[in-house]
Amino acid sequence: MSVVKTEKIENVALIALNNPPVNAMSTPLREHLIAAIEELDKDTDVEAIGLYGEGAGFCAGADITEFGKPMRSPLPPDVMASIEGSETPIVAVLHGAALGGGFEMGLASKARVAAPKAKMGLPEVGIGLIPGAGGCVRSARLIGWDGAFNLVTSGKPMSSQEALELGLVDRVAEGAPRDLALEAAKDVAAGTLEARKTTDLPLKEDPAVVDAWLEKMRSAKPRLDAPIAAAEAVAGATLPLDEALANEQRLFVQCLEGPQSAAFIHAFFAERAVWKIPEAKAEPRSIDTIGVIGGGTMGSGIATASLLAGMGVTLVEQNAEAGERAKSVIAKNLAGAVKRGKISEEKSNALINDRLQLATDVSELTTQDVIIEAVFEDMGVKREIFSKLDKAAKPGAILASNTSCLDLDEIASVTSRPQDVLGLHFFSPAHVMRLLEVVVGEKTAPEVTATGFDLAKKLRKIGVRAGVCYGFIGNRILNFYLESTDKLLLEGASPEQVDQAMVEFGLAMGPFAVNDLAGIDISLATRHIGEDGETRALEKKMADAGWLGRKTGKGYYAYEGRNSSPNPDLPGMLEDVRREYGKTPRDFSAEEISDRIVTAMICESVRVLEDGIALRPVDIDAVYLFGYGFPRFRGGPMHYADTIGAAALVERVEAYAKDDPDYWRVPDLLRRMASENKSFASMNG
Ligand code: NAI
Repeated sequence: MSVVKTEKIENVALIALNNPPVNAMSTPLREHLIAAIEELDKDTDVEAIGLYGEGAGFCAGADITEFGKPMRSPLPPDVMASIEGSETPIVAVLHGAALGGGFEMGLASKARVAAPKAKMGLPEVGIGLIPGAGGCVRSARLIGWDGAFNLVTSGKPMSSQEALELGLVDRVAEGAPRDLALEAAKDVAAGTLEARKTTDLPLKEDPAVVDAWLEKMRSAKPRLDAPIAAAEAVAGATLPLDEALANEQRLFVQCLEGPQSAAFIHAFFAERAVWKIPEAKAEPRSIDTIGVIGGGTMGSGIATASLLAGMGVTLVEQNAEAGERAKSVIAKNLAGAVKRGKISEEKSNALINDRLQLATDVSELTTQDVIIEAVFEDMGVKREIFSKLDKAAKPGAILASNTSCLDLDEIASVTSRPQDVLGLHFFSPAHVMRLLEVVVGEKTAPEVTATGFDLAKKLRKIGVRAGVCYGFIGNRILNFYLESTDKLLLEGASPEQVDQAMVEFGLAMGPFAVNDLAGIDISLATRHIGEDGETRALEKKMADAGWLGRKTGKGYYAYEGRNSSPNPDLPGMLEDVRREYGKTPRDFSAEEISDRIVTAMICESVRVLEDGIALRPVDIDAVYLFGYGFPRFRGGPMHYADTIGAAALVERVEAYAKDDPDYWRVPDLLRRMASENKSFASMNG
């Protein structure tokens, strides 16, 4: 099979990309495409060439399997030079996915026709790269400054209609890609579709617009290298062509060799790696109907996600009134989906009226395939529910708990069928957050775990396998490292300094601002590490003073409407606690703060691995990327740990341990890795 096929029809020729499944621009495709163009360009009978893709799309861009390896010649810019340099004009038919390098082929062509449903764009910034094969320079020539800056720095795909309005394509036409290519080539040959070289198009210098965009990127995305580099590459579009392209290529290589693209690419693969589980070969059970027990924050979100995935839902609440309350929350969630264009109004009405049933007793859950308990985080309540469920549920039903931290094996032990019990730990809001920890108990049957992953897929979530321990993967690590944030306050840092340092590290919000949002009472109720000790003393005093965070207008910060400022009374309270525990405050730099917090996160992650709670380092990265807002450009705690190195981490922990040996302990695995010079990446298998 050839990855590129050519044919001649009368006075024109066609080139079809034929590299299933997405016509990725692999090395063989690049080679064969250039050869095909050279061959046809020599043929004096051929007056125009139509370029299209076999299968569902034109070309989805680079071949991801070539990521991270040195690229072999010919490189993508060579392909673009060949397309643009061909004496015989080439017209591209953009259909299906025409993204990244695929879209750049379109830009290098002398005319473009789009199929109505094509998805086009330059998404490279999403993986920490920029278009490096002329996409920045050519888009500026084709559509001007604003359009080009927006296209390359946002990475957002666009529809054919949008592309037409912007001038990125010359026409939108319906038909099979080959027919469109033939028609377009004929039109180019006949002169009814204008063919012109993109890089010959005039581009007026406009320093004000260019400076405004560069400034916008530097201030809006200060921590991200790629959008800034992409803007710089566009800004270079008025340079002489060779220099402009060389400048773009230099910026591309700079991103490719920088740490951020490696992190983004790791995150991209992490999303796929987590599905490799020991139970993958087990036959999953069917899941068409779901029971949800508890319609509070989590239950209503889980019910929403299940309805949106096409499953029938029965929701059990304590009484009819609570059930109706949950139903109105679900209706509101669905209205949000209508607003975002995900479903139609009719569909939303049908889901709420026909696919959602309310019930007031667990004994009514007799037919559902999967039943997810999401009641209060209380072992007594959960035990009672599961023993009732054991009597009610049909044989083979999966009995799942959304517990955040509790012992799943204990929950399973009250049933006569622990093999059917599974943890399904959703994240709030459950119809939005992508992570689903699939918690596998001691007796959980392989097909039950496989069904949990199947459900994750159906719900369009990212399933990560976790073992049983307090907090599983995510909350166990969270509970441990939050302790380090409390310690920083005791030792002299302020909540604002800690939050600012973590925002600079890349989190959307600092840990104390998050605590205020969730509520200080919730923090006290859910964090049990050191609960009687110095680290929890401040929050206890805050709760006593009625400072429960945002909801009371005062917590670590003081709130007025949407605005927050440091709580002016907090330093005094913090001073009291420091005095009480004999602490002498000192200054901390932002770097020292984030180093400590992230090192704590890494240490507990290593212990999670040692205990076999996570299968591989990449699973921990996925949990933190998709459930806890860990910055994607840092790739997750384990990927980030590799950028520091095991030996340096051991040194760090030993230095911290001098003052606090109980908390700061070097995990055995980390010490072994340091002595063997081993990385976490090498353990991903
Ligand atoms: P919530 O307090 O908002 O909702 C609990 C609901 O369960 C209430 O509506 C209550 O009426 C209902 N309920 C209690 N006993 C019941 C019974 N016997 N039968 C039927 N319904 C009953 O709590 P939330 O936040 O939704 O948490 C639920 C579970 O999910 C807990 O185990 C929690 O740890 C876990 N979780 C919570 C997350 C969060 O961010 N809130 C995140 C992940 C897990």
